[in-house]
Amino acid sequence: MSKRKIGILTGGGDAPGLNAVIYTLVRSCQSMFDCELIGYKFGYRGLYNNDFMQLNRDTTSGILHKGGSILYNSNKDNLFNYDVVENGVHVKKDVSDVAIANMKKEGVDVLVVLGGDGTLTSARDFARKGVNVIGVPKTIDNDLSATEATFGFDTAVNIVTDNLGRLHTTAESHHRVLVVEVMGRSAGWICLHAGIAGSADVVLIPEIPYSIDGIVKKINERGANGRPFSIVAVTEGAVEKDGSAVIGKVVEDSPDSIRFGGVAAQIANKLEPLVEHEVRHCVLGHIQRGGDTSPADRILSARYGVKAAEMIRDGAFGNMVCLRNGNMEYIKLEDVLGSGSIGETSAGGAKTVDPNGELVRVAKAMGISFAD
Ligand code: F6P
Repeated sequence: MSKRKIGILTGGGDAPGLNAVIYTLVRSCQSMFDCELIGYKFGYRGLYNNDFMQLNRDTTSGILHKGGSILYNSNKDNLFNYDVVENGVHVKKDVSDVAIANMKKEGVDVLVVLGGDGTLTSARDFARKGVNVIGVPKTIDNDLSATEATFGFDTAVNIVTDNLGRLHTTAESHHRVLVVEVMGRSAGWICLHAGIAGSADVVLIPEIPYSIDGIVKKINERGANGRPFSIVAVTEGAVEKDGSAVIGKVVEDSPDSIRFGGVAAQIANKLEPLVEHEVRHCVLGHIQRGGDTSPADRILSARYGVKAAEMIRDGAFGNMVCLRNGNMEYIKLEDVLGSGSIGETSAGGAKTVDPNGELVRVAKAMGISFAD
């Protein structure tokens, strides 16, 4: 195999484990074949601006455990619909050819893209234009059906579980109800796992619409049983029985334009006049993605990194690394994201909680209410 020059980028929001993938990918590529690696900064924006850093053992030393990405993240910057200023006016343009020209100029012949569906949709579209692309899925939400587990999820569950424990002691001391908002967009995995592990009393997930009455019922039951405090864990994208969810804001120029936020505050306001306790809320927010990567996520990321290196060695381009039946495998990007036109992602790729699945049954058996 002739010498490879590999470009890596991390798109979308950060997730604990990105650095561990970079760390492992660099080392395994260098031990498997003759190569040079560079990392584009701020995802696709770096590819457009030809802004990169060298990646080698020295520049990636000591990053295995660190959250975030040494290459930085951007959850905007879709090069197939990019915001450029022409004659003082902002216009959207397909600038993917500029990125391809930059890669050619630097001699980059493989592009490894670490990201969620938005980032990987562009990866698919670059593959269609003849670029040798390898995708590595990333999301703390663990909501991609094409892979059994994504790195960052375990770390987030650990952080949320730890915080539910902390909130328990203060809720108990004040006889309060604490409503805790956790990430997950339209998938309740983080909330369900952490809710079980952290002994939440009520777990609200988008897959099981809730009612305020249902939450009140659980709080009152606990009060009647000598437990005058409760923890309500709610996914940011939780849906009330009337179908409404709380949208924080809409960010144009982003693959996931809807930003959730505010549901915990809304629920707390609705609950307070209905229960005997003071009701407070808490939004865990980006704390869930920060700090060190959990050991399990470091190991999972290392497996993703080594598999990506093996795929480069074997020329398995146009594919995404995935975990299937416990083994690292790969799947066509077209199959993950659909064969729609440029920029279009099929909605079929989402993995959500089965309301009748085992984990929900386990939670219910433990006495957790879904307020359904
Ligand atoms: O998709 C991952 C995620 O962490 C979601 O859980 C959350 O809604 C979203 O990203 C937050 O995005 P941002 O970092 O842009 O606020």
